[in-house]
Amino acid sequence: MTNRLRPLISAGRIRKRVAELARQISEDHRGAKLTLIIVLKGATVFAADLMRRIDTPFVIDFVRASSYGKAARSSGNVVLGDETPRLDIAGHDVILVEDIVDSGLTITALVEALDKLEPASLDVCALLHKHVEGARPAAIRYKGFDIPDQFVVGYGMDYAERYRNLPGVYRLTLDG
Ligand code: IMP
Ligand code: MG
Repeated sequence: MTNRLRPLISAGRIRKRVAELARQISEDHRGAKLTLIIVLKGATVFAADLMRRIDTPFVIDFVRASSYGKAARSSGNVVLGDETPRLDIAGHDVILVEDIVDSGLTITALVEALDKLEPASLDVCALLHKHVEGARPAAIRYKGFDIPDQFVVGYGMDYAERYRNLPGVYRLTLDG
């Protein structure tokens, strides 16, 4: 069995789109108390680039989210880190920064949990939105790219913890 990588989104295209998203976020939240909540681990690379292009003050925090089931797709069971209910976001404009929205289960669970902490606003920023047949449409205010229903790696995203270091996004297929 060999893993095969095919380029999907180049590092250059990502850089350009990330700058646009950061400009939009900066304009929308100027003068507000802005908090970026970064979803571990896959969104770290995206968030590191995004935050360096945001030119209005903000703070960051992190949440863990995982789901039991196949490595490549969320099951119905999303488990949030126990830091989640202690995040200090009441009255803040909150942006959840995620690598990829697939079924939408992870982001929905996070939005529900964070909403209880009474932020002034709560939006999602996702680098990728995967189009899955039958999935409920996710509300992603700041979206990088729409992609087809294929497994991707790189730019922070992994398969069994590998490939996070690739500078672009690649489709991964397991041949053999
Ligand atoms: P969802 O809950 O089905 O929307 O899945 C979202 C989470 O599953 C993301 O935070 C990723 O960690 C992971 N994920 C979904 N699709 C992919 C993929 O194609 N590559 C890598 N991780 C993925
Ligand atoms: Mg993730």
